[in-house]
Amino acid sequence: MVDGRMRVLLSNKEIQKKVGELAEAISRDYEGKDLLLVCVLKGAVVFLSDLMRYIKVPLGIDFMAVSSYGSGASTSGVVRILKDLDMSIENRDVLIVEDIIDSGLTLSYLCENLLSRNPKSLKIVTLLDKPERRKVQIRPDYCGFKIPDEFVVGYGLDYNEKHRNYPDVCVLLEFDS
Ligand code: IMP
Ligand code: MG
Repeated sequence: MVDGRMRVLLSNKEIQKKVGELAEAISRDYEGKDLLLVCVLKGAVVFLSDLMRYIKVPLGIDFMAVSSYGSGASTSGVVRILKDLDMSIENRDVLIVEDIIDSGLTLSYLCENLLSRNPKSLKIVTLLDKPERRKVQIRPDYCGFKIPDEFVVGYGLDYNEKHRNYPDVCVLLEFDS
């Protein structure tokens, strides 16, 4: 499936190992709590579906869709809610599940928005982090991999809605339409 326009950065095997480790830490930290995983659509769905199966404490899931990018690879800086949560998060232990933190604009907006709904706690787990690209100060509580400033696709991540189904995380080398 992976062709000459991309290079594998993280194999699915490496990802699975890391997701298992993240889930172990989360299971330990959320013992006896009221865990709600808030998945940021669409990029984080693959990560969520693996992560939730490795977590050993009771949990709920809900979904939110926000747009920070247009259709391409660069940020617009504008964040809009396209789909809100179905349930109240008041007094719940909310863990935001993200695919990647880039500028941090999306998450900083999301955190501010969710905090105004009075959760008992609010933390962030991200599979990938590109710390070099940060525009606002935000740090994930759990992070899978720090990666260099390259555009990646696969394992849920897209370029123009393509390549989400690749099992590995790959660097996109050519940006056509
Ligand atoms: P931020 O607001 O700049 O932190 O961007 C966060 C969102 O941008 C992520 O949730 C992704 O959907 C998208 N994004 C950022 N970097 C990449 C990338 O390298 N590949 C695919 N999507 C990305
Ligand atoms: Mg995303």
